[in-house]
Amino acid sequence: MDFLAGRRLRRSRATAWSRAMVRETHLTPADLIWPLFVIEGKNDKTQIKTMPGVERLSVDLAVEAARQARDAGIPALALFPNTPDHLRSEGAEEAYNPDNLMCRALSAIKAAVPEIGLIADVALDEYSSDGQDGLVRDGVILNDETVEVMVRSALAQARAGADIIAPSDMMDGRVGAIRAVLDTEGFEDRQIMSYAAKYASCYYGPFREAVGSGARLKGDKRTYQMDYANSDEALREIAQDLEEGADSVMVKPGLPYLDIVRRAKDAFNVPIYAYQVSGEFAMIEFAAAAGALDRDAAILESLHAFKRAGCSGVLTYFALEVARKLG
Ligand code: PBG
Repeated sequence: MDFLAGRRLRRSRATAWSRAMVRETHLTPADLIWPLFVIEGKNDKTQIKTMPGVERLSVDLAVEAARQARDAGIPALALFPNTPDHLRSEGAEEAYNPDNLMCRALSAIKAAVPEIGLIADVALDEYSSDGQDGLVRDGVILNDETVEVMVRSALAQARAGADIIAPSDMMDGRVGAIRAVLDTEGFEDRQIMSYAAKYASCYYGPFREAVGSGARLKGDKRTYQMDYANSDEALREIAQDLEEGADSVMVKPGLPYLDIVRRAKDAFNVPIYAYQVSGEFAMIEFAAAAGALDRDAAILESLHAFKRAGCSGVLTYFALEVARKLG
């Protein structure tokens, strides 16, 4: 007995009221950002085979979803277009068409639900014919030429009502270039949330089905997305994006990369977000469907883990469901 010298850590865990008092992190609807996939059409939704329960929505239904998200206390949506095949091209020109699906979704939601923040993904894989995030010449992903297209895309999105521009492509210099054009065009008030530490990951598989880029993708994204073996490099990526003017940064994927979130939180005094990506969503859904784990418990445990690691918020396909439960 004496060897404990009175120190018993279990005392504070002994009852529910005491556990509540010493709880270090709290999840609220304000922590949850909801990604939405948009399609052409009216009153239409389509299923995603590898993401059970997640649907692609036509713009009118996305507006309805935005209302539900606002009512549940979700602060912001992240939009991703599934561009029809005939509008995709090698030059990804559709990315800066002011009337593209993304821009129409942004302006429709902004008009109907102005209280919710709109995060616009900027990358070329949603518009290009080859599924890469950048322009390709002779098998090489071009950096500066891609940034030029992204800048035009970001400007179109800002004009359509995007509150936060979120470059997810991992080209060098795109944050600074986007910041400069937003500022000269009168959009000084629009934020940039940079996908700063984005890894080349197998966990994006279901997302690529959702936006229709997976089947066309040749090769991989390892010349621009990061090597999963690296951690110091993530801090260099984040430092660079902050210097270029990012307001907040994202780590992606989420759960397997919480060490990066924690290092970033300790090193930089800025909001850090993480993306619980499509493959992480699928792991929970399919494991629960197979009876391997309790779905609701797994969702809550995973989301608290993000908070514990230091996230200011989480992009998660579970956002609406969880926000409603918490609210
Ligand atoms: C596109 C993009 C991807 C994701 C978000 N934006 C896929 C990719 O980089 O291949 C993945 C999100 C998810 O898996 O849920 N640049």
